[in-house]
Amino acid sequence: MRKKIPIGSTRIGMYVDGFDASWFQTPFLRHRFEIKSQDQLDKIMESGIGYMYIDTEKGLDVLSVEEKAAPPGPKAAKPAAPPKKDAAPSEMAFKDYVEAMDDLIQIDKLSLTESTTVDFDLFVKNGIDIVPLSKTSRGKSEITKELLTLSGELMINRADVDKYKDYLAEVAKSAGAGRSVASKNMMIKENAKILVRDLFNDPRSPAKMDECKDTVENVISSIIDTKGLITNLFTVNKFDYYVYTHSVNVSVFCVATAIAMGIKSEGELFAIGMGSLLHDIGMSTIPHEVMQKPFERLSEFEIGILKGHVYEGLDIVKLYKGITPETMLPLLEHHENLMGTGYPQGLKGDKLHVSGRIISITNTYDTLTTSRPGFKAITPYEALAHLRDQKQLYDPDILKEFITVLGKSSL
Ligand SMILES: [Fe+2]
Repeated sequence: MRKKIPIGSTRIGMYVDGFDASWFQTPFLRHRFEIKSQDQLDKIMESGIGYMYIDTEKGLDVLSVEEKAAPPGPKAAKPAAPPKKDAAPSEMAFKDYVEAMDDLIQIDKLSLTESTTVDFDLFVKNGIDIVPLSKTSRGKSEITKELLTLSGELMINRADVDKYKDYLAEVAKSAGAGRSVASKNMMIKENAKILVRDLFNDPRSPAKMDECKDTVENVISSIIDTKGLITNLFTVNKFDYYVYTHSVNVSVFCVATAIAMGIKSEGELFAIGMGSLLHDIGMSTIPHEVMQKPFERLSEFEIGILKGHVYEGLDIVKLYKGITPETMLPLLEHHENLMGTGYPQGLKGDKLHVSGRIISITNTYDTLTTSRPGFKAITPYEALAHLRDQKQLYDPDILKEFITVLGKSSL
C-alpha cells in the first residue's frame, strides 16, 4: 500500500515510493528505492522535505504504537523486508521521470572534449534511468575517455545551460584550424537546441523568436561557407525523442537540401530554415500523456489532438511579426505528401509547395532515425531505403539531393 508519512517516521527497511517535493529538491536521483543504510536515512532526515511516500508491500511500514513503546531488544528488531516485486517501471516511476526531464536537457556527447574540465553536473540517461556522472559542487570535473564512451545519453540541468554555453564557446575559441568549423557548428547546434527547448516552454515569446531568426541565419551562413557541409550541425546518435533536437535536425537538413537544390535566395532559405525550425512548435500544446503514448495505443480522439499540433503551431507563429506566409509553409505542410494521404489538408502533387516537399522528406527521415515510445529507431541507411521505396509519397529529385547532403557529412 502506498502511504504518505512524515519524514520523521522514516526508518531503514522502508521502500521509498516518492517524495512530497520536486525532483531536484531531494538529495536522490531515484525516487523509488529501499532505504538500506544509515547514510541514506540521514540524507532523507536532513533534506528539509516534510513528507514522503512509502510502499508497505515492498518494505517496512511506520512503527506501530506497540513497537514504539517496546524496549530495545530482540522483540524490537526490524522485521525482514518482504521480497521485492517486479521492478518494471510503475506509472509513478514514469511520472517521476517526466518530472525530472523537465529540469534536464540532452547534450551531444561529441560536444565534450577529452581531458577538458566542466563546471556543471552531468547525468547519463538510459531509458527512464537517470544517474549522475559527476558532482561538481566542490570543483570542476574532468572529461574522461570512459565518460565519453558510456552508453546512454548525456544530460545537464537546465540551470547549468549558461555554463555549458561558455564551455562550448571556449572549446570553439581554442580549437585548432582543422577543428574550428566542427567546433563552431557544434556550438551553433547545441545553442539552437537550448533555444528551441526554451521556446517550447514559452512559445509566444517574441524575444525567443528573434533569437531563432539569428540561429537560422547562422545555420545558413555556415552551410554556405562550407559548401554544403552539415557536420556537427545535427545530432547523429539519438536514443530518445526530444522535440528540440528533432526541430534543429530537420531545420538543418531542410536548409542544406534547399542549398543543394540550387536555391540561392536569402529570403527563401530563411523561410524554409525558420519554418522548419518551428514546424513542431504546436507540440508545445499537446499533453504529456498523449506525447508519450505509442501511436498504436492512441485513441481516435487523442490522434485528433496530436494531429492538431499543425494548426496549433500556426496559431502560435502567426502572432510573431517576423513570420511571413512563406515561413509558415514548412510548418503547415510537414505532414503532407505527394499522394495526398497526409494531414491536415491532404495536399496532393503540385499543390504541395517546394518547402513542403523538402520537409516531408527530412521530417520523416529524422523521425525514423529516432527512438520514441513504441518505436525503435532504424539506421540512416534503412530510413533512406524506406524513403526511396515510397516514390509516390516523396519527390525523388529532392530525396536525391538530401541523400547527397547526408553523404557529404559521412553518415
Ligand atoms: Fe509534426
